[in-house]
Amino acid sequence: MSIEGSTVVITGGASGIGKGMGERFAAMGANVVIADLNLDGANEVAASIGGTARECDVSSDASVASLVNDTIADTGRIDYFFANAGVGVGGDITASDELWDLSLKVNVMGPVIAARHVVPHMQSNGGGTFVVTASAAGLTTGPVSFNYAVSKHAAVGVAEWLAINHGPTVKVHAICPTIVDTPMAPDFGEVMFQPLSVAEVVDSVVAGLDAGTFIIAPNEQPMAMFLAKAHDYDGFLSNLQHRVQGLGNS
Ligand SMILES: NC(=O)c1ccc[n+]([C@@H]2O[C@H](COP(=O)([O-])OP(=O)(O)OC[C@H]3O[C@@H](n4cnc5c(N)ncnc54)[C@H](O)[C@@H]3O)[C@@H](O)[C@H]2O)c1
Repeated sequence: MSIEGSTVVITGGASGIGKGMGERFAAMGANVVIADLNLDGANEVAASIGGTARECDVSSDASVASLVNDTIADTGRIDYFFANAGVGVGGDITASDELWDLSLKVNVMGPVIAARHVVPHMQSNGGGTFVVTASAAGLTTGPVSFNYAVSKHAAVGVAEWLAINHGPTVKVHAICPTIVDTPMAPDFGEVMFQPLSVAEVVDSVVAGLDAGTFIIAPNEQPMAMFLAKAHDYDGFLSNLQHRVQGLGNS
């Protein structure tokens, strides 16, 4: 399916990676819906790309149901859904239940709730593409927050389950970048990789959709580390322990 002429919904589209994808897909001829908790920001992005803004809290079933139903009422279908909204709230071993709740509600239940509403629609329409913005922290845990890393492992798990149980009718992808230069990036503190630009991530998303690969990774390191983990889990842990100690995180 080509992006041109399709209906694309992007959660967390008011900022960062979501905004970058909205701008690129609109330039490619898509009808883009920018959905975000931040309605002013969504309005601004939608106005600049000729798209539609919708207020949505991805952790609320009722809010996502409205987003999906209103979009289908307007356009007749959703071809691409990007479950991209996320929170980078930090936390180490002392992270509170509140921080854990927020990370799990947005980063894990966000894609789960979206899939509940969007995937049956795509299946009855003969297909579609469902994309979860996970993270490299969902493939290999780095020196990012405890609750963030665990929630992103679960986000990859959500995408994997959907791909197995609803593909190939619904194509599912998990975007797994390392640190990206967005307003969220400072939440991650000192990091192991040079930040990627939003444009680099969006380039990789366009290429990954085209190639049909499940994992969309804008740079090589996380996939190399993921493979190393599969081959030698203990070696992988020891290597990362040294790197984390080098950053003074333990
Ligand atoms: N920036 C990074 O380094 C990085 C790296 C890997 C993955 N990611 C992931 O990329 C995705 C986008 O992050 P970003 O870097 O563009 O951050 P960002 O902070 O620029 O954008 C996140 C957007 O999500 C929205 N949002 C937050 N909670 C929401 C909710 N409950 N409902 C609807 N919208 C909500 C925010 O209002 C914001 O517009 C996230 O899932 C993030 O975890 C980011």
